[in-house]
Amino acid sequence: MKKILLFAKHGQLGHELQRTLAPLGEVIAMDHPEVDFTNPDQICERIHEMKPACLINPAAYTAVDKAESEQELAYMINRDAVDALAKTAAELRIPFIHYSTDYVYDGRKGSPYVETDAANPLNVYGKSKLEGDLAVLDAGGAGLILRTSWVYSMRQGGFVTKVLQWAREQEVMRVVDDQVSGPTSARLLAEVTALILAKAGDDPYSWLGEKAGVYHCAGGGSCSRYEWAKAVLDLDPHKEEQIVRVIERAKSSEFPVPAERPMISVLNNDKLAHTFGLRLPPWDAGLALTIGD
Ligand SMILES: NC(=O)c1ccc[n+]([C@@H]2O[C@H](COP(=O)([O-])OP(=O)(O)OC[C@H]3O[C@@H](n4cnc5c(N)ncnc54)[C@H](OP(=O)(O)O)[C@@H]3O)[C@@H](O)[C@H]2O)c1
Repeated sequence: MKKILLFAKHGQLGHELQRTLAPLGEVIAMDHPEVDFTNPDQICERIHEMKPACLINPAAYTAVDKAESEQELAYMINRDAVDALAKTAAELRIPFIHYSTDYVYDGRKGSPYVETDAANPLNVYGKSKLEGDLAVLDAGGAGLILRTSWVYSMRQGGFVTKVLQWAREQEVMRVVDDQVSGPTSARLLAEVTALILAKAGDDPYSWLGEKAGVYHCAGGGSCSRYEWAKAVLDLDPHKEEQIVRVIERAKSSEFPVPAERPMISVLNNDKLAHTFGLRLPPWDAGLALTIGD
């Protein structure tokens, strides 16, 4: 069986990838401290020893606000480690699937972003992720960058589980309605990843090498965080536990945070659909499929 090396197995996406990749080979799933992206040499040594058939990297420094004060760490994990992995993958002819973010854009375009639009990140997280993307492209191997937005799962800590919790604690809930993007189910993103690999056939390096580059891969359509929260509460399988009576629209400026966010960062997924024949369902359909888990 071919070996698939997966990082960040405890992350939102990594957790789902463990399941979706399982039918494709022997998934060797790791997280830190077993692998530490602040020590890329150690990881590259393991890749040399293991020689996996494929490398999947959902690991990232994702604390958007904290990154403003932990720049060095964010760049180490999101740029330097990715650069080392991508170079090692290219050297050993291993296909490399990596994930990026809508936060590489400034949100001022006014319509959905396509992959050829100029990036202009507004915060350290977005800048460090963009540099990681450029490192993957520069490495010149079979590197696929799936750029996604507002990733959620039913594991604790993300937006969806927070909304469900707030609804059980607050009678009046205020949610921003000026940030707009496409909520993306981690499970469906993991399924798209596995479906891409399943299409790659016997020579995945050449097949993916011809298609190397950035692909937008987000929940279809768009909504504001307010609309997203409302949909979460409508789909809540235990509505009887909610005490929330009113959900009010708020502005981002009412909740000052260290990192500036793009306001409208909707991604156009057509390139993925044309190249691989795959498309994530509309965000609300994806939510309905996920929330009952
Ligand atoms: N979440 C979103 O809304 C969102 C939106 C757009 C794009 N993305 C991108 O999608 C991908 C997956 O995101 P996610 O939501 O699954 O993120 P996540 O849940 O925060 O998972 C990130 C993973 O990276 C691991 N990690 C952090 N520092 C590490 C280090 N020094 N060494 C090794 N592993 C380390 C984390 O481990 P610990 O938990 O132990 O720290 C965690 O398992 C990332 O590339 C992210 O940039 C996410």
